[in-house]
Amino acid sequence: MDRAVFPPEALAAFAAAYPGAPVRLSHSLTDHPLLTLEALAALAEALPTDSIEYNPGKLPIGIAPEDVPAATLPVTDTIRNIGAAGSWVALKRIEQHPDYAALLHAILGELREVVEPRTGKMMQLEGFVFITSPGGVTPFHFDPEHNILLQVTGSKTMTLFPVEDEEMFSARVHEEFHLGKHHRNLPWSDAFAAKGTPVGLTPGAALHVPVKAPHWVQNGEAPSISLSVTWRSDWSYAEADARAFNHMLRELGMHPASPAAFPAHNTAKALAYRAVRKLKGLRKSA
Ligand SMILES: [Fe+2]
Repeated sequence: MDRAVFPPEALAAFAAAYPGAPVRLSHSLTDHPLLTLEALAALAEALPTDSIEYNPGKLPIGIAPEDVPAATLPVTDTIRNIGAAGSWVALKRIEQHPDYAALLHAILGELREVVEPRTGKMMQLEGFVFITSPGGVTPFHFDPEHNILLQVTGSKTMTLFPVEDEEMFSARVHEEFHLGKHHRNLPWSDAFAAKGTPVGLTPGAALHVPVKAPHWVQNGEAPSISLSVTWRSDWSYAEADARAFNHMLRELGMHPASPAAFPAHNTAKALAYRAVRKLKGLRKSA
């Protein structure tokens, strides 16, 4: 890439916040040739179908049966017509395409010097592109990855909530999330609203979303393209495995303490869980 993605002040802000705090950043990818609707339609054609999730659009309320289209709009048409389609498209694991892998690695490479001394090696580098019609909403949820969302076209508001506020979600919800036992979307309560911080994102803005910070997203009045760059770390894996170990202890009638926040690394519980998982694996194959 000919110029840096993150200007020096964005890197400084990221360094002051990582890994625990959300922070608004800026980036230089708004006119990147791989992030136009046309390029993304071509990417959608190249990705395996299980890496594409999309809503092919709403039909008018009063449509006559003979006017209902025989086939739903293909994803490429949905992307090209996103302004009018009343739809959303998620292109997942874009690094499966070599050009997008190079872009993802260039972006994350600029963060490595901040990330690795704190949370260990950057692992499982994955990129996602969200293409959304005006007014679209992404429901309340949290994600297991370290994430930076880069707004490329259009605007959206992400409302972020405190990480691991156990008044909002009990330790059990966190444990079940790591064990894949509940739907990604989180139950909403109006009592949470006052804890949220809305962050407006326009083209050229980015947001660091800490691991498992709950959020929901409201799209603005224009079609939106955003790029999410994610990674995992020793620290995030250890927190996840400590949660899973706590779940085992809870099943045995114990009341384990929740994993400690960064800079604690939760190594003992994570190693204990990995040992148990290994033993279980051995028993299965015996
Ligand atoms: Fe998310």
